Amino acid sequence: MPKILVTGGTGFIGSHTVVELHNAGYEVVIIDDFSNSSHKILKQIEAIIGIVPECVALDLCDESKVNEFAAQHPDVAGVIHFAAFKAVGESVQKPLEYYKNNFYSLINVINAYKRSLSLVFSSSCTVYGQPDVLPVTEFAPTKKAESPYGNTKQIAEEILQETCAVTPSLHVISLRYFNPVGAHSTALIGELPIGVPQNLVPFITQSAIGKRGQITVYGNDYDTADGSAVRDYIHVVDLAKAHVAAIRRLEAKKAESNYEVFNLGTGKGSTVLEIVNAFEQSTGEKLNYAIGPRRNGDVEKVWGDVTKSAEVLGWKAELGVEDMMRSAWNWEKYLKDNPF
Ligand code: WQD
Repeated sequence: MPKILVTGGTGFIGSHTVVELHNAGYEVVIIDDFSNSSHKILKQIEAIIGIVPECVALDLCDESKVNEFAAQHPDVAGVIHFAAFKAVGESVQKPLEYYKNNFYSLINVINAYKRSLSLVFSSSCTVYGQPDVLPVTEFAPTKKAESPYGNTKQIAEEILQETCAVTPSLHVISLRYFNPVGAHSTALIGELPIGVPQNLVPFITQSAIGKRGQITVYGNDYDTADGSAVRDYIHVVDLAKAHVAAIRRLEAKKAESNYEVFNLGTGKGSTVLEIVNAFEQSTGEKLNYAIGPRRNGDVEKVWGDVTKSAEVLGWKAELGVEDMMRSAWNWEKYLKDNPF
């Protein structure tokens, strides 16, 4: 069976993608430096799929180590590149670390396979900033990033597009994620935020379980249905399945261009207060929250036009907000009884 390299494969989206690749009949090898994940995730993946995927711990910024890996794994049929630093706030404090890590790792992987590679790149809707038109399509212009993290995604896409333009042997699909949330239905893998969660849903579940205090809703004076900001929340399992669809498309080699971009969202927007309500409705847990000031750098409203993903990639999100909230809560309860 074809072997897929998943860099960052023990992370939140990476681990769910490893499971879905296995379910789709692929062999998986992981590279991870475990800087933002736990070795225990490998055991959790084994509990779901019955085998422990091969996992090599190395720093993708170390060119010689990455070349050594590629020499030992010449049979990799494709790469899904998740490995990157991704904390928006931290990136503002540590820009050089973010630019070095996020670009060196990507470039080293491409060069190690002699630029003859099928690669799925983990990108983000942050490249759109606050779109002028909603829902936002892949043809919308990118806007100046609000953070070095967002900038690394924009520049990485440019690196890939420009390299593909002069490298026919390199085939790339960039996947622009909207807001990944939720956890696997087994509650054995999920989001493992380090420290105080910056993202909404992990803060909600940690507040509900008693690990955190009151939730602050950052602003209710936006021009939206209830004044709180709008995002396109997508279940991490749906997101993982989209990566399998992207690998399949690269295998088929039917694309006209060797560089393609797809939005991965549900095509629907939810306000923060709607998410709070959906969590309470689907779990029966009462949340302790209050309205606070807007958060710097937040866009007001963004949700994706996912027509291209449906028509070209042949993928559509299937799980709704209730399942996102229930699965996130089940994972939080699992963590309480099985701390990592
Ligand atoms: C969602 C909404 C907040 C916390 C970020 C990254 C993006 C991507 C997804 C990686 C916003 C509000 C949040 C809280 C709140 N990550 N909020 N109280 O900022 O849309 O996107 O994560 O690719 O790149 O930027 O996600 O979950 O932080 O916020 O009211 O305690 O929830 O203001 O409106 P965001 P988020």
